[in-house]
Amino acid sequence: MSAPQSVPGHRDGAAPARRTVLRSAAALAGAVGAGSALAACSPQSASGGGSPATPAGPVDLGAAADVPVGGAKLYREEKLVVSCPAEGQYRAFSARCTHAGCVLDKIVKGEGNCPCHGSRFDVATGKVLSGPATEPLPAVPVKMENGRLVAG
Ligand code: FES
Repeated sequence: MSAPQSVPGHRDGAAPARRTVLRSAAALAGAVGAGSALAACSPQSASGGGSPATPAGPVDLGAAADVPVGGAKLYREEKLVVSCPAEGQYRAFSARCTHAGCVLDKIVKGEGNCPCHGSRFDVATGKVLSGPATEPLPAVPVKMENGRLVAG
């Protein structure tokens, strides 16, 4: 016959209950962490809101000369990218990635980069150069008025 054993410094039954509480807290913290990771990947949190891919009305982008001939400029705040294939010719696209809605963060050698999952777009055509995005950037009307670019 053996007598019930007790852990020194703990009353019988107290240790398992405490372990259960700690395990539950750890599981809850893990669940909250996983929820945050998922939320960071959702289109709404990544893009800063549910605003449409293209502007609803005309947007003044400033001096047309800011867009280099043969290059492009990213207007991150306006969520637009404008390219200038030849002097006086401008093409604008939404700068929101067609994968999950993140806004492109930079243009390197004519390629717009999405910081969220690495998609790359040709900023002269909007075409996808590498995924996971599969759809091109939507074109946005743009015109030059008195030396300034107006999109939308
Ligand atoms: S949002 Fe996923 S690659 Fe751009």
